Amino acid sequence: MKAAVLYQPGGPENFIMEERTRPVPASGQLLIKVKAFGLNRSELMTRKGLSPGVNFPRVLGIECVGEVEFDPLGELTKGQQVAALMGEMGRKYDGSYAAYAVLPRSIVFPFKSKLPWEQLGAIPEMFQTTYGSLHRALHIKTGETILIRGGTSSIGMLATQLAKNAGLTVIATTRNAVKENILLQNGVDKVLIDDGALASKIKSTFKDGIDKVLELIGTTTLKDSLRCVKPGGTVCMTGMLSEQWVVPEFIPMDFIPATVNLTVYDSGQIQPEATHFQEFIHEVEAGKIRLNVSRVFPLDQIKEAHQLMDSNSASGKIVVVP
Ligand SMILES: NC(=O)c1ccc[n+]([C@@H]2O[C@H](COP(=O)([O-])OP(=O)(O)OC[C@H]3O[C@@H](n4cnc5c(N)ncnc54)[C@H](OP(=O)(O)O)[C@@H]3O)[C@@H](O)[C@H]2O)c1
Repeated sequence: MKAAVLYQPGGPENFIMEERTRPVPASGQLLIKVKAFGLNRSELMTRKGLSPGVNFPRVLGIECVGEVEFDPLGELTKGQQVAALMGEMGRKYDGSYAAYAVLPRSIVFPFKSKLPWEQLGAIPEMFQTTYGSLHRALHIKTGETILIRGGTSSIGMLATQLAKNAGLTVIATTRNAVKENILLQNGVDKVLIDDGALASKIKSTFKDGIDKVLELIGTTTLKDSLRCVKPGGTVCMTGMLSEQWVVPEFIPMDFIPATVNLTVYDSGQIQPEATHFQEFIHEVEAGKIRLNVSRVFPLDQIKEAHQLMDSNSASGKIVVVP
């Protein structure tokens, strides 16, 4: 089978396309025929050698959609559509950048859909993270105002649609004024150009601050995000696009304004619910959600796919079809 193997961390040119023997699943594992996978920032960080505990050579890929090829326990039939994500996939053991992957049964979720694979490939991690951040961490409610910091990211673009569908007012950011229209077409009510200091701009319109912030940039902007919300409001740090996730000399009383809530969402710690996943697919099929698939690459072009993510010019999910 074809696999993109990373022998040592570095730039996109470090991926080596190889022919490998198809792996054999043990009991409790499944052999999955990979039909599509979305690219993730965490894979970019693993590629650069910034993910602790990853040994090389490694086949990256923390998510995929595909079909069951073989289940040693016979619970899932050959051809069953499945999604798989996280559970140290593509980090502790080989992941989805290949034609086949052997994965633990615990991270595999059966579903049914007639959507094309390149659309389905965009969904698992993007949906699980966005849904979890908005509903399980931020507990969004109709009528609230949310700031999505990192609005042009694939997570930010989907979060905007889910928040709008839930009846919120959405303010979203980009560092690049040229992308303003992309955000507006995605349903954003107001665009802010992020220069790292938004609290005063937010408070010039919302005197006490807004209800919620979805922080996707990381600790470089987190302190400012906490100052954007009103007393009792909540900031959820889900992303670290700046590649900064440490707060040096963290002094809680200075860092967090009184009564403001700080939380995080980490899809590695929380299992998705298969029913929510299937419901979301139905919403996409019904046209209630538009998936922002930026580009689809064949596996042979994994280097080009990573170069596009490196360039920050995608404005949506990058999908690879083996
Ligand atoms: N917690 C979890 O469970 C979880 C799960 C999945 C993803 N994530 C995280 O969520 C974030 C978004 O992921 P994604 O795949 O949606 O990203 P993405 O689509 O690759 O995001 C691309 C956008 O990020 C912005 N960006 C890039 N570098 C930046 C920087 N240094 N400072 C500010 N903005 C920057 C750029 O926006 P502009 O040029 O428009 O400013 C760019 O358009 C990532 O940090 C990812 O690791 C977390």
